Amino acid sequence: MPDLLQIGGITDTMRDRLSEHFTIHKLDDAAYPAEAITHIATNGHDGVPADVMAACPNLKMVSCYGVGYDAIDTKAAADRGILVTHTPDVLNAEVASTTILLMLASFRNFLADEAHARSGAWEQGGAPLSRSADNRRVGILGLGRIGQAIADKLAAFNADIHYHTRTKKDVPYTYHASLTDMAQAVEVLICITPGGPSTYRIVNAEVMDALGSEGTLINVSRGSVVDEPAMVQALQEGRLGYAALDVFEAEPKIPDALKTMSNVVLLPHVGSATHETRAAMGGLVVDNLIAHLTTGKVHTPVPETAHLNV
Ligand code: NAP
Ligand code: 8YV
Repeated sequence: MPDLLQIGGITDTMRDRLSEHFTIHKLDDAAYPAEAITHIATNGHDGVPADVMAACPNLKMVSCYGVGYDAIDTKAAADRGILVTHTPDVLNAEVASTTILLMLASFRNFLADEAHARSGAWEQGGAPLSRSADNRRVGILGLGRIGQAIADKLAAFNADIHYHTRTKKDVPYTYHASLTDMAQAVEVLICITPGGPSTYRIVNAEVMDALGSEGTLINVSRGSVVDEPAMVQALQEGRLGYAALDVFEAEPKIPDALKTMSNVVLLPHVGSATHETRAAMGGLVVDNLIAHLTTGKVHTPVPETAHLNV
């Protein structure tokens, strides 16, 4: 059987299916047979370290558990004829739900209210009022598969939707060619672009100042998309009102300053983290590997290597 290198964890279901087709080696095995590795199963966080890709001369395919693949050097892979796959679409609805939950948690202050109720403090006095999540002007940075799913769910809240992308889309929302201009126009800014160099810290101090002291920043994309030190400073100085964050620059580390702020909601990168959606993602990771083995073609190549899927 061909040799597969496993980077990071996989589920039992994935392992059971993969072991019918591959001999599985783990990256942390003392000596995995680098020369023999033809396939890699990894995830969006661990990616494929450059030294691992270089050490595997017969690598043909990398299957990533996650739609974001900024931790994989897809140019280096394409140059070597290595197909890279990811898990688009199967997580759109889940990540959109997480985004709406973050927005609701921030606006309606549910986490503090729940703690208030649970602690018995209610008996000493009622909870403070919160902000309505209805009828808001919401800017979506990155109107792709997930951004559109977020826009669809926001319709239930009667949101006035704006968006910023590099290219204008055929959608009935207000387009802004400038991210700063969009931040100025909205009350909520939702980040859902890919990570990587083209989006590195594009939500900078200027954008956060434009969003303003009553503005809410929601990040479900990658920590690298927001200038995190600038965000902490803007929140501390009251130039940015609120933040609701699923991703961080050096995750799983979260800046200590954020942990003490009551106007911030923090999640441990759980955008897609339900049993159902993770099973669908794992299924697609394995489907791509088996399809490559049996047909030479894959279901969901990343665009940078799609030309190799022939
Ligand atoms: P997608 O369909 O490729 O959409 C990406 C969108 O971002 C497109 O509208 C694209 O439009 C825009 N974009 C790309 N580069 C940009 C730039 N430099 N400036 C402005 N807009 C830019 O991707 P998706 O499937 O929606 O996923 C988006 C990302 O969400 C993933 O890559 C991942 O990082 C993140 N994600 C996070 C979680 C989580 O658990 N928190 C889960 C899943 C995904 P243009 O090309 O026209 O600019
Ligand atoms: C995953 C994600 O948690 O799909 C993505 O891009 O960020 C999440 O769904 C992550 O990729 C798992 O490694």
